[in-house]
Amino acid sequence: MKAIEVENLSYSYPDGTPALDGVTFSVLKGESIALLGPNGAGKSTLLLHLNGLLRGSGLVRIMDREIEEHSLGWIRSQVGVVFQDPDDQLFMPTLKEDVAFGPRNMGLSEAEVQKRVRWALESVGLLNLSERSPHHLSFGQRKKASLATVLSMRPMVLVLDEPTSNLDPRSKTEMIRLIRKLQAEGTTLVTATHDVNTVPLLADRILLLNRKLVSNGEAREILQRRELLRELGLEMPLFADLFLELRAEGCYSGPTPFTKEEAKAAIRNYFKK
Ligand SMILES: Nc1ncnc2c1ncn2[C@@H]1O[C@H](COP(=O)(O)OP(=O)(O)OP(=O)(O)O)[C@@H](O)[C@H]1O
Ligand SMILES: [Mg+2]
Repeated sequence: MKAIEVENLSYSYPDGTPALDGVTFSVLKGESIALLGPNGAGKSTLLLHLNGLLRGSGLVRIMDREIEEHSLGWIRSQVGVVFQDPDDQLFMPTLKEDVAFGPRNMGLSEAEVQKRVRWALESVGLLNLSERSPHHLSFGQRKKASLATVLSMRPMVLVLDEPTSNLDPRSKTEMIRLIRKLQAEGTTLVTATHDVNTVPLLADRILLLNRKLVSNGEAREILQRRELLRELGLEMPLFADLFLELRAEGCYSGPTPFTKEEAKAAIRNYFKK
């Protein structure tokens, strides 16, 4: 089943800045895809269309329901968008009230609200800060807090805008693990990023965006296209870059590694020979 369908979506901001031009793609239920593109490519703009916060020309459907004025309430209960800037998402006096806000609005019982607050804060590792004011948290902590405010609504489709930016290495690894865990539980995920090294870990497919949809395909295939990435001001993931150069020099003939484990296996094989 298609969780998201976008057809010929175009959008210009009120001041006339063009941001999206004829974008068409779909995402299956339970898929995790990455939206990759340089600064200003329209990633955030596209994400804001997925729950109707922005309305361009063209069609957006969530689980076969078109985004229209009368479906907005339902759409927002299905699609949770975590903004690029956490300060756009946090507004209550304490973190736990911020995380409770969504589920309370959904009319859930207080017991269920508290259960979800606990689970969401635990999932992002902030349970011990639940009494703090969100505005007294560090940027990385606010990034995680803004995810918790959306997680607590347990949306079917989770849209993340640069979720790993400003996170320390351990937090980044935990974020990737959380994304994959939610996917395994059936959540559909769309993650905007320009972190090419993280993409293969968190997504199977890439939408390469530069106002238009430049490419749509398997993550590992697109991340080996050096020229295409360079044209967009992006680069190849470190391990893939290294091993493709070695391959061009005739020193390597195996599959392209994308993770440290894969690179290690490739090097181990070489020494065995
Ligand atoms: N509120 C706005 N008013 C006018 N133009 C805007 C507005 N927000 C964004 N833009 C413009 O729209 C284009 C797309 O911006 P967008 O924020 O979607 O890019 P992005 O791919 O998310 O970039 P980044 O990687 O920096 O987050 C850019 O040219 C940007 O300057
Ligand atoms: Mg953005």
